[in-house]
Amino acid sequence: MKKLRACILGATGIVGQHFIRILADHPFFEIEALTASPRSQGHEYGRQVDWLVSERVPEIVQEMVIQDTCADTVLRLDPDIVFSALPSGIASDIEAQLATAGLPVFSNTGAHRMDSSVPILIPEVNPDHLELIKYQDLGDGYIVTNSNCSTSGLVLALRPLMELGVRKLTVTTFQAVSGAGRRGVSSLDILGNVIPFITNEEAKIVGETKKILGTRSTGEVIPAPIDVNASCARVPVLDGHLESVVIDMDEPVSIDRVVELLENFTGEPQALTLPMAPSRPLVVLHENDRPQPKRDLSLGSGDLGMTVKLGRLRCQGNQLNMFLLVHNTIRGAAGASVLNAEFARAKGVLA
Ligand SMILES: NC(=O)c1ccc[n+]([C@@H]2O[C@H](COP(=O)([O-])OP(=O)(O)OC[C@H]3O[C@@H](n4cnc5c(N)ncnc54)[C@H](OP(=O)(O)O)[C@@H]3O)[C@@H](O)[C@H]2O)c1
Repeated sequence: MKKLRACILGATGIVGQHFIRILADHPFFEIEALTASPRSQGHEYGRQVDWLVSERVPEIVQEMVIQDTCADTVLRLDPDIVFSALPSGIASDIEAQLATAGLPVFSNTGAHRMDSSVPILIPEVNPDHLELIKYQDLGDGYIVTNSNCSTSGLVLALRPLMELGVRKLTVTTFQAVSGAGRRGVSSLDILGNVIPFITNEEAKIVGETKKILGTRSTGEVIPAPIDVNASCARVPVLDGHLESVVIDMDEPVSIDRVVELLENFTGEPQALTLPMAPSRPLVVLHENDRPQPKRDLSLGSGDLGMTVKLGRLRCQGNQLNMFLLVHNTIRGAAGASVLNAEFARAKGVLA
């Protein structure tokens, strides 16, 4: 079957690099074009990029010339699909322009996530939200977003627990520096330090969690009636967001029931055996000092960074405490977006 030709916006950044790594050898998509800022435009990708996400720049993009991030340029290149890894402020107009011109846009940015008819899609969690694209006023194209990086792990862990009556959620994050992008946090600020503030992150976790777990009602989502409270910190870790989660349920909970729900959780991507879908989205670690970013981000060759690791499960009355670990640039960014495109293709809205 013919592969769909992809344009990656913001291809030189951390998320853009992961897009390239994943799409360089993908069964459904192939890389057709790359864009970045005026600083990088016109240069060969392999010479310009400060490659950080694997051993070497994939051969297929080595000599590809970086284009400017402008709707006219992208439309002239005529891709079948767009993946966006731009800073939010830059993404807003161009993503809407490309969708209006008829392209499917799979975006990592926060620019359109909270627009009423734009899904924040995590196909294991809210597959029916893909239907929202029918209500977008964007010509023949559409925008599908994935969540902010810390929210992605959180909602995956919450989905199977919803049947226990999740009422209130308190999350404290310990977020890796790669989450701030390639030039995000200066080494003098973060080494030997913890910064208890990340711009807009707490509001994103609150709003996105309620939207993703909400109920779709024709062209919009009614937010889930969960009381969400978030505190976010940046820590001197390269990759992997660790999150301490406290959940108040309607009724008393037992560890055995919680572990059973988490370990047996699968969704539509698993049933469809999509390439980026892990066989189990959630892995419970039973050692008393796990999960750790250094040890548990990848559990071996079959782990593409798409599983969320959980541990330190403790129940007391109606309350569950746990830690979770999510790969912020894969399950929280590029991998999530590619999974969304695979899912859209399987659902017949991407051809
Ligand atoms: N990092 C994560 O864990 C993560 C997780 C989830 C979502 N996100 C979101 O994903 C997006 C990308 O994040 P990132 O971490 O990859 O950022 P990044 O490393 O800073 O990369 C930004 C990319 O955008 C390009 N860019 C910057 N200014 C531009 C301009 N004025 N015009 C056109 N292109 C421009 C950069 O090109 P140059 O190299 O030429 O400057 C680079 O390719 C952001 O919206 C972020 O919030 C990131």
